[in-house]
Amino acid sequence: MGDFDIDNNLGSDPASDIIQDIISGARRLKIVCETLEAGLFDEIETFRGPVSSADVATKCHFSLDVTERLFNTLVCLKLLEKITSTDGDVGYKNSTATTRYLLCSKRPSMIACCLSEAAMVLPALDNLAAVLKGGTSETIAQQMVKGEQNNNTKGSDNANANPPNTVNTNPPNTANTNPPNTANANPPSTMITNNDKQMMFMLAMEGMAATCAPAIARAFDLSGNKTAADLGGASGCIAFELSRTYPNMCLTVFELPHVAKLAKKLQPEDTRNKVQIVGGDFFKDSLPPADLYIIAHVIHNWDIEKTDILLSKVYRGLPPGGSLLLLEKTLNEDKDGPWPCISMDVVMAMISKGRERTPSEYQKLLKKHGFSNTQFKSIEGCNYYDAILAKKPF
Ligand SMILES: C[S@@+](CC[C@H](N)C(=O)[O-])C[C@H]1O[C@@H](n2cnc3c(N)ncnc32)[C@H](O)[C@@H]1O
Repeated sequence: MGDFDIDNNLGSDPASDIIQDIISGARRLKIVCETLEAGLFDEIETFRGPVSSADVATKCHFSLDVTERLFNTLVCLKLLEKITSTDGDVGYKNSTATTRYLLCSKRPSMIACCLSEAAMVLPALDNLAAVLKGGTSETIAQQMVKGEQNNNTKGSDNANANPPNTVNTNPPNTANTNPPNTANANPPSTMITNNDKQMMFMLAMEGMAATCAPAIARAFDLSGNKTAADLGGASGCIAFELSRTYPNMCLTVFELPHVAKLAKKLQPEDTRNKVQIVGGDFFKDSLPPADLYIIAHVIHNWDIEKTDILLSKVYRGLPPGGSLLLLEKTLNEDKDGPWPCISMDVVMAMISKGRERTPSEYQKLLKKHGFSNTQFKSIEGCNYYDAILAKKPF
């Protein structure tokens, strides 16, 4: 290529690659959040085939130059595919990952996962240095889990307010009634403060669960269980999947009342006769009767005192032979990975008194409460779930 020679002996210090990669992670997330905010993926989808950056820019009144540069950046991120026709025309279409998880017209999606990472998780980490020095942390994310209002931010925080209009709150697989945003829609700085963070948190949980729910449902044979209750089940995503996999199972999603109210609004039609969503507090109220309890991403939120209270309550609530399906991402035995889990361990230190654990730590914890026959299934991929099944002995 002309006088642009490639010499394999020339290169930057490989030790700096690690740092560059870390820096670019934040940049990747920011670019994706802004692209979602601009409604670009939904716009591309409306063309139903490869589209030029010029056509999208014209339709949306975007800068042609920046659109083309952004499109190529999204190709590099594997969120768009670039197709060159035999005539040499260049078109772009959404990649499989984008079509499956980043379209506002679909639910479940991972849009809220991206937005909440930027708007809640990263701000929670602002406290890392302070917490390291012995402080405590009351963050936006923590307030949302409790359903409290954050007086430090502008806009509506109540549970009935609208989630960001980049997030679809229609039941899954129905068309979104919100048109895609245009370039001049809400500027990013007002996006989170003017919308409902509680709904965003729940949809983020749903997005994370949706990628693993089929694997979770198949991890163990649960066909012997007739009644199941998902304690702190958020949107109900995992319960809904179990109801489809095990048609004879009746399920309850047991959630804090303000979350249960939101979850009911989102419940898919096909699960309504099999899954009921009930408001309650698993520390204060009686648990719904069940021969299978599910607790997903709950134990890692609490200190050991609260964990012991909940696990002994679950154990007492089960009939002999009943099961607990505990879903958490587990640390490796050296406690230095995998990345989703070890990084979440630091986040948990910012937003809760909880922690992540290894499979053997979970086994020990469950044994302490009387559970036996603990089985462990790893859920492969970049995700936040592994599956642990434990039995109450006969
Ligand atoms: C981290 S989320 C996990 C959601 C869901 N299980 C999942 O894996 O996607 C924890 C959930 O526990 C619920 N929760 C917290 N305290 C609770 C309580 N005392 N009783 C019932 N649910 C509670 C929260 O509302 C939240 O939805």
